[in-house]
Amino acid sequence: MTSPIQKVPQPFRSLAPAVMRASTVVFDSLADFTRRKERQPDGYSYGITGTPTARQLEHRIAELEGGAHCVVTPSGQSALMTTVMGFVRGGDHLLVSAACYGALKTFADKWLAHFNVEVELYPPAIGAEISEYIKPNTRMICMESPGTVTMEMSDVPAIVEVAKRHGVLTMMDNTWASPLAFKPLEHGVDFSIEAATKFFGGHSDLLAGCISMNDAGYYATVRETQSILGQQTSPDDCFLVMRGLQTLKVRFAAQSASTLQIARELERHPEVNKVLFPALQSDPGHAIWKRDFASSGCLFSLILQPAPEDAFNAFFDTLQHFPIGASWGGVHSLAAYYPASLQAERAFPLTDQPVVRLSIGLEDPAMLLEDLCAGLDAFKRTRVAST
Ligand SMILES: Cc1ncc(COP(=O)(O)O)c(C=O)c1O
Repeated sequence: MTSPIQKVPQPFRSLAPAVMRASTVVFDSLADFTRRKERQPDGYSYGITGTPTARQLEHRIAELEGGAHCVVTPSGQSALMTTVMGFVRGGDHLLVSAACYGALKTFADKWLAHFNVEVELYPPAIGAEISEYIKPNTRMICMESPGTVTMEMSDVPAIVEVAKRHGVLTMMDNTWASPLAFKPLEHGVDFSIEAATKFFGGHSDLLAGCISMNDAGYYATVRETQSILGQQTSPDDCFLVMRGLQTLKVRFAAQSASTLQIARELERHPEVNKVLFPALQSDPGHAIWKRDFASSGCLFSLILQPAPEDAFNAFFDTLQHFPIGASWGGVHSLAAYYPASLQAERAFPLTDQPVVRLSIGLEDPAMLLEDLCAGLDAFKRTRVAST
């Protein structure tokens, strides 16, 4: 029987990155094996800390983010949790924007609170006034700007300035903008998080996340936390994210342009009460968006005329090109619904009305607009019939 240790015939070069699988990493000598931990956070010791496929992806993402280091994780949620778990301990105070991703808030509320972490939500449309929420034991501020349902903008540079003055760490979920539109690390944020599930992957066929940072000490802590929590990202998924990244720029540009066009049209539609989208001049977050962001991505929300649930059913059921789904950022358009009860439950709610969220894909924008107008016609018919 031949040796099970993989020997790859050389030379071989390809445009495609290799998918390298490993639970077990093998070493050339006992001395090498004994020193494997010293090679962390970049080196290989066991499958859990990644293989060259993950490292290659991490280097590409770090470059995109303008950061020195990156750690990939199995989902966007795991990237958010890993960052918090790496640095926040019992007795600490954690500030979380009320517009942060729901599962992060649930994690903070249901798990961290039991570990004696004092979790406090703050209003998302905030800047330097964050100082009013800082306590002597505040360890980290979690941001998401804009919030990816109701789209409130935070003044990230102003929050960072306050955080640095108080020695508080900052992390930002940057999935809405992607580093093509906003680079949190360039604005002094300590950790830039992306749900690579969305724009990076781009095709709605994988889950992945990433944490980018500049500080080497933080990197060592994040790598150790990722490994200790058992968060390995499949090399196949790393490969798919790398493939997605090759077209990110063109997808992002095309989807951003279509989204802006559709949002501007819907703003004039009589069944639409409000378009929540900071790229529009009418949005309260527009000035901050214009100052800090280079583009606006594919995600925005609508508040329609007040109407019973039936009218929303008619709207969604009429749509032909917007499957109903809670995700976004892929090449196919999607629509999601957040009922009024959910808005009422949220801390610092923006509205007491239902929210319709649209993710605009690569389809013809004129066709998408026609579809949405047909949905709004059905919405109106049901709304008027019920009055
Ligand atoms: C803004 C934002 N952050 C994080 C996540 C979590 O990403 P994942 O689904 O990869 O866990 C999502 C998912 O919808 C999201 O919308």
